[in-house]
Amino acid sequence: MEYNKLGKAGIKLSELSFGSWITFAQQLGVKEVKEFMHTAFDHGINFFDNAEGYAHGESEVMMGKVLKDFRREDLVISTKIFWGGHGPNDTGLSRKHLIEGTKNSLKRLQLDYVDLLFCHRPDPNTPIEETVLAMDYLVRKGYAFYWGTSEWSADEIEEAFRIAEQLNCMKPSMEQPRYNLFFRDHLEKDYLSLFEKYHIGTTVWSPLASGILSGKYDHGIPQDSRLAKESWLVPDNFQQQVEKVKKLATIAQDLQCSTAQLSLAWCLVNPNVSSVITGATKMEQLIDNLGAIDVKPKLTPEILSLIDKICSE
Ligand SMILES: NC(=O)c1ccc[n+]([C@@H]2O[C@H](COP(=O)([O-])OP(=O)(O)OC[C@H]3O[C@@H](n4cnc5c(N)ncnc54)[C@H](OP(=O)(O)O)[C@@H]3O)[C@@H](O)[C@H]2O)c1
Repeated sequence: MEYNKLGKAGIKLSELSFGSWITFAQQLGVKEVKEFMHTAFDHGINFFDNAEGYAHGESEVMMGKVLKDFRREDLVISTKIFWGGHGPNDTGLSRKHLIEGTKNSLKRLQLDYVDLLFCHRPDPNTPIEETVLAMDYLVRKGYAFYWGTSEWSADEIEEAFRIAEQLNCMKPSMEQPRYNLFFRDHLEKDYLSLFEKYHIGTTVWSPLASGILSGKYDHGIPQDSRLAKESWLVPDNFQQQVEKVKKLATIAQDLQCSTAQLSLAWCLVNPNVSSVITGATKMEQLIDNLGAIDVKPKLTPEILSLIDKICSE
């Protein structure tokens, strides 16, 4: 496992990481979470991702129980604030919700601080200046070491930098965008000027497009799969995507790896990706995904252009 710097920040993140969305406290109990996190850690993963909104806070509670097994210094823990509940001040990026939400997350995680704190979405109802000042406060007070954004537009991130510069505030260090073989624009187009100008890091999500890129949907939707449980995640062009995955499987076969490993390794190759956040509901998925590390060196320019051709058809 390699450890990448988070853009120009000094902290180092394992190139593969492990997240809790949909899985912790919904599909996995604390016993399984413990086994998964230990296995991930034993294979070199040091970065674990969470959010106040996952399983209404229960995902943080569950992760918090397991984090005690580890030395804090060996871990990079993130959470994300935006969806904290149903009250008028339980959502968004107001100073009130960012500070209260972060303190509540830390209580659930049983931590004094998180390493990375994300604004989970842009908030059109709060001035970016208010958000920048609140994140500056949270970092300076030691509740988080670095702050960043998730799914903000390049213009919104640019605005946050401008304000932080003007007010002498802590600047964002990272963005958490979706990135996989079917969803590439943020990383490969929209944010290019940000990488050049500000050297932000990225921790990318849904690298398997919720599992579609593992090939598990090639013959329909298995009953115990995410798309069976969360039908709102089935994309409009599902069948088209499945046909592409079948072609990707032939490349994987030639490289003697699984389609999931090929798809994850492809994300790892992008130099603007600091860490690829994986998810799993079964131990064999986690083990399979960890194997992506060994596939990365096999992705020659020729193989990458074959993959590009399949995905752009
Ligand atoms: N910032 C954001 O807005 C945001 C949004 C979403 C996610 N995230 C973060 O990113 C993390 C990863 O996202 P994700 O869970 O969507 O990742 P993903 O890798 O696209 O999907 C993971 C799911 O695919 C299936 N799967 C994983 N590995 C597999 C394998 N080898 N073979 C077959 N099936 C496999 C499992 O679901 P089933 O077994 O149930 O089918 C698993 O839960 C999340 O946990 C979260 O921390 C962030």
